[in-house]
Amino acid sequence: MKYIPFHKPSIPASAIEGLKQVIDSGWITTGKKVQRLESSIAKIIGAKYTVAVSSGTAALHLAYLAAGIGRGDEVIVPSYTFCSTINAILHTGARPVFCDIQEDTLCLDPKDVEKRITRKTKAIVVVHFAGLPANLDEINNLARQHNLVIVEDAAHAFLTKYKGKYVGSGKNLTCFSFYATKNLTTAEGGLVVCPNLETANYVRMMSLHGISKNAWKRYQKTGSWKYDVLFPGLKYNLSDIHAAIGLAQVPLAGKAHVTRVRLAKLYKQLLSHNPNLILPAEPVHPTSEHAWHLFVVRVQPSSRIGRDGLIEKLKSAGIGTSVHFIPNHQQTLYKKLALNRQLPVTEKIFRQILSLPFYENLSEKEVRRVCLTLNQLTYGK
Ligand SMILES: Cc1ncc(COP(=O)(O)O)c(C=O)c1O
Repeated sequence: MKYIPFHKPSIPASAIEGLKQVIDSGWITTGKKVQRLESSIAKIIGAKYTVAVSSGTAALHLAYLAAGIGRGDEVIVPSYTFCSTINAILHTGARPVFCDIQEDTLCLDPKDVEKRITRKTKAIVVVHFAGLPANLDEINNLARQHNLVIVEDAAHAFLTKYKGKYVGSGKNLTCFSFYATKNLTTAEGGLVVCPNLETANYVRMMSLHGISKNAWKRYQKTGSWKYDVLFPGLKYNLSDIHAAIGLAQVPLAGKAHVTRVRLAKLYKQLLSHNPNLILPAEPVHPTSEHAWHLFVVRVQPSSRIGRDGLIEKLKSAGIGTSVHFIPNHQQTLYKKLALNRQLPVTEKIFRQILSLPFYENLSEKEVRRVCLTLNQLTYGK
C-alpha cells in the first residue's frame, strides 16, 4: 500500500527557472529575489516593512532583540509551541515564563497570561497555533494596560486572518517561517514584519553582522567595500536561492489556501461522527480565517487505542503523522532551568494531539483512506 507521508512540499516547476536565473546571474546570496519575496509577501498580507531572514527562529530572535528584550526581562510565552520560540528568548538573556492555552483554540489563554504578569514582564509571545488566529484583541488590551510588547509567532499563520485582516498587517512585530513543511516554503527561511522603517532597518542590520546598511551589496557593482560594525549582529540573511523557491509559490498562494480549506472540510466531514476524536476549532469571529497549516485532532480517553499506540498502528497502515507539540516545560533543558510549571490544559492536550497528513497535493482519496483507518482504529466503525 502506498505510503501517505505526513508532509510533502508543493513546489511548482517554475521554481527551476527562478533558480536558474539566480545561478546564471552570478549572485547567489541575498539580492533581488530576496527583495522581491519581501515585497510580494508585504503586498499579500498588507504589511509595509518586511525583512526576509534565514529561518522562523532567526525571525523570532531578531524580533525579540528589536523589541528590546534582554537580561532581567521576563517574557510570557505558551509552553505549547516549537522549542525555538523559547530558545530564542534565552538567547536574548531574558527568562521565558510559560503560560497555559485555551482548550478549544490551543492558543494562549489571556486569563492565564494576566496572572503571570509581574514588574519584570517585558513582552508576550502569541503563537497562532496550526494557523488558527489567537485572541489578539484580549492580548493587545493586556499589553496596552501593562505597557508590554507583543511578538507574534506566525510560523503557522501565513494567510491567517484575524477579524478581516491578515496576521502580520497590524502593529505587532510578527514572525513567519518558510521552513520545509510550511504553507509557503523556501526550504529554510523566515520573515519579520516590523511596525516601522527604523525597526526594519535595525532587524536588517542585525541579520547581517550588525554592519552598516546594504552591506550585502558590497561585492556588487553598485556596492562599496567600506562597512562599519555598529552592533554585535548575527548571520541570519536569506539567500536568493531560497527566495527563488518561495517566489515561485507566491502567485499560487491563494489557490493553495483554497485547497487547504477544502481538505480540512473533507477531513471534518469524514471524522465528525467519531465520538472518540475532537476536531480542530474554527475561528470564533466570522471574518477570521484559519490558514490550515496543520490538521490536529485530539484522541479522547474513550478511544479504543491511545494516541501513542495509534501513531504506531497508523504507521503500520502506511500513514505518517506527527505531534505538535511536546510541551516545552516538560523538556529537560527547561526543567533544568527550573522553568517547569504546572500547565494543566497544555499537559492534557499533549496526551491527546495528533497531526494528520496535510498538504496541497494530498488527494481526496488519501484523505478518505486516512479517515477510514483512523475511524476503524479509534472507534471500530
Ligand atoms: C510555532 C513555531 N515557531 C517557530 C518555528 C521556527 O521556525 P523555523 O523552523 O523556520 O526556524 C516553528 C517551526 O517550524 C514553529 O512551528
